Amino acid sequence: MFRILKIILATLLVLCLVAVGAIYGLSEMRLAKTYDLAAADFTVKTTLSPEEAERRARTFMCGGCHHDAGNVLLDDPALGRLVAPNLTRLVPAYTDAELVRLIRHGIKRDGTGVFIMPASNLSNISDEDMADIIAWLRSLKPLPDAVQGGTSWGPVGRIALALDQIPFEADDVAPTFKPVAARPADIGEYMWKTDCSHCHNLDTEKQSPAFKAPALRPLAQSYQPEQFKALMRTGKGVGGRDLGVMTEVSQWDFSHFTDAEIEQIQAYLGKEP
Ligand code: HEC
Ligand code: HEC
Repeated sequence: MFRILKIILATLLVLCLVAVGAIYGLSEMRLAKTYDLAAADFTVKTTLSPEEAERRARTFMCGGCHHDAGNVLLDDPALGRLVAPNLTRLVPAYTDAELVRLIRHGIKRDGTGVFIMPASNLSNISDEDMADIIAWLRSLKPLPDAVQGGTSWGPVGRIALALDQIPFEADDVAPTFKPVAARPADIGEYMWKTDCSHCHNLDTEKQSPAFKAPALRPLAQSYQPEQFKALMRTGKGVGGRDLGVMTEVSQWDFSHFTDAEIEQIQAYLGKEP
């Protein structure tokens, strides 16, 4: 009787160890997966003043995730500790062409994918604005890391990696994707594509693992223009409500929009299809 129980327990233990090993192995394989896309030459230079190039560059959400010198995006014992690293330390090793491939296709210098970073949005950035972003990145002075240690994956994070449930947006942007050259005069739809649609839908609520973002069309219609500007500048909802991640992206990124740009965004979002 005891012998049978022992055999069952030993078998279960072996099965568990095999499962843990398999999950670990598969998750490491996912992290090491490389993408075969050459970094195409990028020679566009910005014609703007450094201040205006930086202002435009800062509207594309890099700061909301990376902050000035690295930021912990999520710290959860099950999922893991996910870090958006210190750009001022990593950018110098990149060529301009590699930076463009990283931002548009989510592919790092070594050919592996970046997790979470939204290439499917950022690929819509025009060549003109990409030149602004590169000029701004090149102007950054090296800063010491704001967070100690890098990303580490917890057990649920490992399982999600093994099952390919962590977003690596290198999978979402076609290698043949052709970006637009010029920044449009009316940036409403453009900013919807590069920024807001990362978290929102126009007509339905969008549920992400970490938050729920409301449908934007009805909100753009019901906000007074001054309220909408106040939201973009301060990240606070009507009545001064804190809006979590929305407050963060507004303060880091959207506060760099001009009044005219915010009007274009509100007009595009509120337009009936
Ligand atoms: C939604 C969050 C998010 C946004 C927005 C974002 N990033 Fe990232 N980025 C990340 C994360 C997370 C990593 C680390 C991913 C990894 O190690 O695989 C990363 C990695 C990087 C790296 C380092 C790549 C390497 O070799 O390790 C650079 C450089 C970078 N991002 C630049 C940018 C720039 C420039 C922008 C704006 C145009 C931007 N990121 C926008 C989340 C983001
Ligand atoms: C990183 C994700 C993210 C991005 C990018 C983002 N939002 Fe949001 N937004 C949210 C979330 C989450 C909420 C809900 C916050 C809450 O109710 O706590 C929200 C709420 C809002 C609200 C409602 C505020 C209120 O009064 O309740 C408006 C309006 C809004 N966003 C507009 C925008 C616009 C315009 C853009 C693009 C320029 C944008 N958002 C980009 C995540 C995001």
